[in-house]
Amino acid sequence: MSQERKDNYYLALRQIARVANSNLSLRRILNSTARSAARAVGVSGCRICLLDAQKEYLINVGVHGLSDFYLKKAPLDARKSIPEVLEGKVVCVTDVSQDKRVIHPQTAKTAGISSIMAAPLMEKGEVVGEIRLYTHEPHQFSAADKNFLLTVANMSAVLLERDELHRLLEKGYKLPGEQTTPPQLPTTARRPTEFVHPSEEEFARLLDFYRIEWLYEPRSFPLRWENGSIAEMCTPDFYLPALDLYIELTTLKQNLVTEKNRKIRRLKELYPEINIKLLNKADFLRLLAKYGYGSLGEAKVPNIERILFTHSQIQRRVKTLARKISRDYAGKHLTLVGVLKGVVCFMTDLMQHLSIPVTVDFMGISYYGIGEDQVVKITKDLDESITGRDVLMVEDIVDTGMTLNYVLRHLQSHDPASLRVCTLLDKRVRRLVDVPLDYVGFEIPDEFIVGYGLDYKGEFRNLPFIGTFHPQPKKERISPK
Ligand code: IMP
Ligand code: MG
Repeated sequence: MSQERKDNYYLALRQIARVANSNLSLRRILNSTARSAARAVGVSGCRICLLDAQKEYLINVGVHGLSDFYLKKAPLDARKSIPEVLEGKVVCVTDVSQDKRVIHPQTAKTAGISSIMAAPLMEKGEVVGEIRLYTHEPHQFSAADKNFLLTVANMSAVLLERDELHRLLEKGYKLPGEQTTPPQLPTTARRPTEFVHPSEEEFARLLDFYRIEWLYEPRSFPLRWENGSIAEMCTPDFYLPALDLYIELTTLKQNLVTEKNRKIRRLKELYPEINIKLLNKADFLRLLAKYGYGSLGEAKVPNIERILFTHSQIQRRVKTLARKISRDYAGKHLTLVGVLKGVVCFMTDLMQHLSIPVTVDFMGISYYGIGEDQVVKITKDLDESITGRDVLMVEDIVDTGMTLNYVLRHLQSHDPASLRVCTLLDKRVRRLVDVPLDYVGFEIPDEFIVGYGLDYKGEFRNLPFIGTFHPQPKKERISPK
């Protein structure tokens, strides 16, 4: 190895260590690490990526010298793109157009990439991510380049581990010997993402709270081509791998929303297999309002705009549901489980009309935006074991489905003999997480509602009817019949 090359490696490692010890953000430290590594080897680009929780996708955490176009192609599928790296190997691809291990050779070519070298990021013997170097011209990487890249990979892994440890300590995690278990942080919490819009950050926090894995702007979809090159693209804000769902937030002005709608329609035409949902401003504010802030949260004088279901309509429907449940569980003993507090009215009415033997139990969970919790938690668990029992989960309303999804996973872990769901209200149009519903009282439109147990900031649960809630007072108040 030439002296000049040795000097380059040495200077790069010195620079990486210096920046690592600065007070820059993790994202900037890793971008700088990628730059130093690329320059030392004399290549054009470098990226440092982490594996997501499912160990399927590689998420960029540090990047240097790669075009936006290349970075926003389909999310990098770790098991398809140069998969040997997941076995802990350093892999060199001398010509991307000739190598089957490169999943988007055309995109790589368009972005001017010829050769790639990839090394694993290891934490305690396990692969947690990768570092990749890219060249414009075909390049033969040397053994010394490989060793250097492995060294940078090890340093990056230590930096990521240090960052995670800091976060845990900030959250009150005690070091070993102090008998505290670390809080279970979602993997997304360690991902340094910079959001374009504050509403996106709020949405990411909401997903983190319900432990739903997300990727931010992982992929761009070409929509229009001119003279063989891409003239228009659409980059949805979020991808939720577990639900295989893209989400585009449009909290912008109405004229821009029309443009976005057009793009999404085009995307659906060109990529029919892609599952994408548009959350417009009203949807998004309602989602936040549910947790007591957003535009409804600014309401000075609350009011009921319209009665959706009167007391007698509710009673009739509850009786019908109870008859069906009693028939389905004839000869069995049923355990009803409800999550406090919204379900109280429905639960008490429903159980009085059941003709089979039942026991009733309640759980409490923390809700997003209330208190300091980072992730959803059980604040009151079941009093009795449900193992081997026939369980019916009773809900007041299923909206996005995130709460029910979490609770069902918890109940399922206790091995009940059977587990079904009964909900009085189903706001199906707003569903994000698909949850199975066995008994449904009413399907309702996308409106914020209160009454019969449902609240707005803790109030209105005592109304004997279900009504739509509106911030502006109406001239004449509607009263229940
Ligand atoms: P999800 O997790 O989005 O399905 O929300 C479920 C919970 O949100 C319910 O149990 C309710 O407590 C609350 N919720 C959803 N929609 C409304 C509403 O329109 N009014 C009042 N509370 C609601
Ligand atoms: Mg509820």
